[in-house]
Amino acid sequence: MHSRYTGLIEKYRDYLPIHDDTRIISLAEGNTPLIRLHNIPKLLKNEVALYVKYEGLNPTGSFKDRGMTMAITKAVESGSKATVCASTGNTSASAAAYSARAGITAFVLIPEGKIAQGKLAQAMMHGAVIIQIQGNFDDGMRLVKEVAQHAPITIVNSINPYRLQGQKTAAFEIIEALGRAPDYHCLPVGNAGNISAYWMGYTEFADIGIVNKRPKMCGYQASRSAPFLRGHPIDNPETIATAIRIGHPQSWDKAINAQKESGGWFDEFTDAEILKAQKLLAEKEGIFCEPASAISIAGAIKDINNGKIPEGSTVTCTLTGNGLKDPDTAIQQSTTPLIKVKAELGEVKTAILQKM
Ligand code: F0G
Repeated sequence: MHSRYTGLIEKYRDYLPIHDDTRIISLAEGNTPLIRLHNIPKLLKNEVALYVKYEGLNPTGSFKDRGMTMAITKAVESGSKATVCASTGNTSASAAAYSARAGITAFVLIPEGKIAQGKLAQAMMHGAVIIQIQGNFDDGMRLVKEVAQHAPITIVNSINPYRLQGQKTAAFEIIEALGRAPDYHCLPVGNAGNISAYWMGYTEFADIGIVNKRPKMCGYQASRSAPFLRGHPIDNPETIATAIRIGHPQSWDKAINAQKESGGWFDEFTDAEILKAQKLLAEKEGIFCEPASAISIAGAIKDINNGKIPEGSTVTCTLTGNGLKDPDTAIQQSTTPLIKVKAELGEVKTAILQKM
């Protein structure tokens, strides 16, 4: 028996559509930590057990790797030589990495000028064919669906059912870490695949009796990109949290079902509120997530303080992506000036003493 962790397909193969002889394309994704927050809860009006599922520690720095290991494994199994996706950045980084690992070509459609630098760097490094479109994610999604009808190419967006299969394993891990399901699960909602996948995972473990209850699902959106709050898809979505700059979510029905069946809710936050939560998490807990991910913290804080999430609850927040993905936004919002001194002891000492 070896103990080397070899990825979520191996670990959860009994729960995934995988054959014994399937060649698994993996980068040892999953198995991310569930970290209990200690400092932010002290600032809240009600006492809860608050945890973050730090998905930024996946191989390409986001939760997309969970779905991508499945999607690429199945693409290769079916003989596909190329993948295509539309992306706000993380899917393209993940598709590029896993396609490279499999030795097939990744085509990625990204909105020109609207993806974080780290994500672009990843797609470039992994050798994806990058097609920048003069449009947004929703335009890209439409084009991907059209082009796949005319070319032998596998779509690896979350409309590919294997994506959600892989992503549901995050719910399995949370249940294993807590020994139960949380009472509330908070997460960002963009294309709405992830909220659907978590609900699928929680439901599966409840159905086979591993847990006897499921969490209420709380989905949070950026105010100018909040179709679930408006009740219909929207055109021209905007937000500084470019990962969730989406107006026409593909998993609309599944997400509505997750919210309704769980007794959860959707809410929205402004860019300023999103950035404030990102900074708070980084400053108070030492955890750096990207802006889109921080909306789950903004949501949890609001709903714990207003009592919608009651005292004594166990709450999990998914931190979908690593803060290092988007250094530009982090640096731009930083208000602490950098101190510049000569390389001399006296000046360094003075600088330190002033701040003690
Ligand atoms: N958080 C991050 C960091 C994301 O990259 C995404 C989606 C979401 C949250 C929302 O998840 O779409 O399942 O509701 N990013 C996609 C992409 C759209 O192309 O990388 P969702």
